Amino acid sequence: MTSPAGDPAANAVGVDAELARRPWVVGVSGASGTPYAASVLRGLLAAGLPVDLVVSRAARLTLLDETGIAWRDGPGAWPEALADWLGTSLAGWTRPDRDEVVAAVDALVRVHGADNLAAGPSSGSYPTRGMIVVPASTATVAGIALGLSKDLLQRAADVTLKEGRQLIVVPREMPFTGATLRHLVTLHDAGAVVAAASPGFYAGVADAQALVDFVAGRVLDAAGVPNVLFRRWAGELGAARTDRPRPGTVDNGTTAGSGA
Ligand SMILES: Cc1cc2nc3c(=O)[nH]c(=O)nc-3n(C[C@H](O)[C@H](O)[C@H](O)COP(=O)(O)O)c2cc1C
Repeated sequence: MTSPAGDPAANAVGVDAELARRPWVVGVSGASGTPYAASVLRGLLAAGLPVDLVVSRAARLTLLDETGIAWRDGPGAWPEALADWLGTSLAGWTRPDRDEVVAAVDALVRVHGADNLAAGPSSGSYPTRGMIVVPASTATVAGIALGLSKDLLQRAADVTLKEGRQLIVVPREMPFTGATLRHLVTLHDAGAVVAAASPGFYAGVADAQALVDFVAGRVLDAAGVPNVLFRRWAGELGAARTDRPRPGTVDNGTTAGSGA
């Protein structure tokens, strides 16, 4: 009897499934801004797109600082942490026709340890759609621009560039040094999209999440991923302001705290 490993037909099915899966690689580095990453991840999953996620060692600190979540890459450890981070159950994004939620989550999201340079995204032969680095620290910007590949995140970004796939880098720092600006120009000239974490205010500023989602939505636009994360400019000055309650009023239009 032929073993599954030696069965050409079974292997072909496996290869086809991998080629069809073609995830977006999402690299989260140790800059402030883990909510941007969460919003991008939600947007990709909402669009039904598979994700391979790499969280740098430094990003564990920012994640802990900004969300209280202690990130662990190990099998069985990350699904709960990711669900907490994204604020929703991963099962909600699995295809309704799949009864095996665990298998479906595995097809949708794979998490690779940042130290695991043997993981799929380390090689150009691993099929991906491209990569989004969000947020991108100045250290990661430098590492990608200089081709250091000091961890899986940087190696996957280097692979994305060398394969001519789409690389979107979302730097978060203020102010920038001259060195970082030069590294960003290098990335731009190498074909990456540099999409600064710089929210526009024309889409409405109901809360901080709206500003986060604006950035994530524009990042997904750059990736060609359909999304409804923010209100698009429609050629009408002040349109976003008409949607929100006037200061000092509550939702039903009455004046708050008037005692009337
Ligand atoms: C709480 C916290 C916030 C940080 N915020 C930023 C930031 O906004 N931008 C940045 O470039 N680095 C920031 N850093 C520094 C990076 O984490 C540090 O440079 C690290 O080496 C980046 O490693 P990585 O690029 O491999 O993730 C922050 C560090 C901590 C602990």
